[in-house]
Amino acid sequence: MKIFLDTANIAEIKKGLEYGVIDGVTTNPSLIAREKREFIPLIKEITAIIPGPVSVEVTASTVKDMIAQAEEYAAIAANVIIKVPINLEGLQVVKTLTGRGIKTNVTLIFSVSQALLAAKAGASYISPFVGRVDDISGDGMQLVEDIAMVYDNYGLATEIIVASVRHPFHFVQAAKIGAAVATIPFATLSQLLSHPLTANGMERFLKDWEKVKT
Ligand code: G3P
Repeated sequence: MKIFLDTANIAEIKKGLEYGVIDGVTTNPSLIAREKREFIPLIKEITAIIPGPVSVEVTASTVKDMIAQAEEYAAIAANVIIKVPINLEGLQVVKTLTGRGIKTNVTLIFSVSQALLAAKAGASYISPFVGRVDDISGDGMQLVEDIAMVYDNYGLATEIIVASVRHPFHFVQAAKIGAAVATIPFATLSQLLSHPLTANGMERFLKDWEKVKT
């Protein structure tokens, strides 16, 4: 499973790269707003740090304006992926961008039907938001499982990015389902490594090692 960092924070991205397991970055308007920086220079900086895909979301509402934004963002760097919301306009944008060789990530996916239409329009990726489904007493990972089954039924190549990941269990479930990507906040990345038995085991080994006469 590929691991993307779900952040627009440069320090987190640099720190994440030290783990040696980060394959890409996803951003959204809320994550960008948190950084209080000029948008284009921020994206330029992120795309220069991360060799893999960097999702950048369009915010216009008409097809024409979304395409204009997408082309501007795609020109920033070769690894920019255009994030497009799932709606009628979004589908048209995805179809056009795909025809122009620009990769897309269709976001705010909350149903199998949305995921199927996004794939048919040519989306490179789709992002089901598992945490937000759980927030309203749904089962976010069941949604991912259902989408994966439908994509498999028809041999659809669109990759599933499990998004709105809130904790390591989401990450593990995504891997068990076989999702192509999990995009995770930086805090979750560090949680993935920690285990009390590992910490305890290390402590005991080091204590015993002190007793070894050299
Ligand atoms: O990539 C989408 C994701 O960032 C949404 O996460 O936690 O705001 O639901 P969250």
